[in-house]
Amino acid sequence: MSVLKVKNLNLGFTVENDFHQALFDVNFSLEKGQTLALVGESGCGKTMSAMSILNLIPKTAKITGGEVLYNGENLLDRTQKEMSKIRGGKIALIPQDPMTSLNPLYTVGDQLLEVIRKHKGLRGKEAQKQAIEAFEAVQIPDAKNRLNNYPHQFSGGMKQRAVIAMALATDAEILIADEPTTALDVTIQAQIMKLLNDIKQNNQTAILLITHDLALVSENAQQIAVMYAGRIVEQANAKDFFINPNHPYSNQFRQKIRQSLKLYKGSRRRFLKKLTDVVLIRDAVFAGIFAKYRFRN
Ligand SMILES: Nc1ncnc2c1ncn2[C@@H]1O[C@H](COP(=O)(O)OP(=O)(O)OP(=O)(O)O)[C@@H](O)[C@H]1O
Ligand SMILES: [Mg+2]
Repeated sequence: MSVLKVKNLNLGFTVENDFHQALFDVNFSLEKGQTLALVGESGCGKTMSAMSILNLIPKTAKITGGEVLYNGENLLDRTQKEMSKIRGGKIALIPQDPMTSLNPLYTVGDQLLEVIRKHKGLRGKEAQKQAIEAFEAVQIPDAKNRLNNYPHQFSGGMKQRAVIAMALATDAEILIADEPTTALDVTIQAQIMKLLNDIKQNNQTAILLITHDLALVSENAQQIAVMYAGRIVEQANAKDFFINPNHPYSNQFRQKIRQSLKLYKGSRRRFLKKLTDVVLIRDAVFAGIFAKYRFRN
């Protein structure tokens, strides 16, 4: 069942009195308990499509047409005040740049506690306990003490995880995750993706996962929408997409990923070769020392 439908969304920017269209008739829908991966190259319009859902677009941007249907109602008709209730409460966002949702003037813990108070109605020790658990769930070490840190005391990856913890603390019906794991190493990335999948399964959350990582898509998404130059060029069941992408751009996109994988494998091979050389040199040196030692004796 669709919980959210983006229909014929058009958006553009006014730059020095000129209007530049960035989104052209964008259509996609989110299903209960499923992940839709929105993929495409940098600048194709993924973030703008996501931000339009929450009406969080830049001042220079304007939505010139289309609808965002949530429970049959068009969110684009809502006032900012009405939208502020929906944001976080019904639709949570993990933004591409975590600093946009962390206030540098408050500790990260205070900001997380505020979300827990607002959305779960918890106070005092109970709220504190939930906050520690939320930090532990996103693998922030020394969670209890880290709650007292200000955002500038967190690394990029920790800020990203703190923002994920805040989004997950809302129990929203829809979760928009814009490149949620880009600043994280692979093991933490896998744990975060497991966390998102658990939430999807247990709460029947609908997830919009924006990524350029097709490996993440193949492991976590049921549906995929491919964007190119402001347009959705293909939306398909993820399994079908990996077997047989329809649109030439989708194919090209897959080829690009394969190429980067080959490059990665090539550099890994070179690295391993260097490592082997180092090991051989080390062994030769040891053999030399050993021979010298034996010769002396
Ligand atoms: N504030 C802005 N003013 C003018 N143009 C903008 C602004 N923000 C985005 N754009 C333009 O809108 C288009 C879509 O941008 P968007 O951020 O949605 O891309 P994206 O697909 O999320 O890229 P990335 O993968 O790099 O995050 C781009 O051409 C971009 O240059
Ligand atoms: Mg983006």
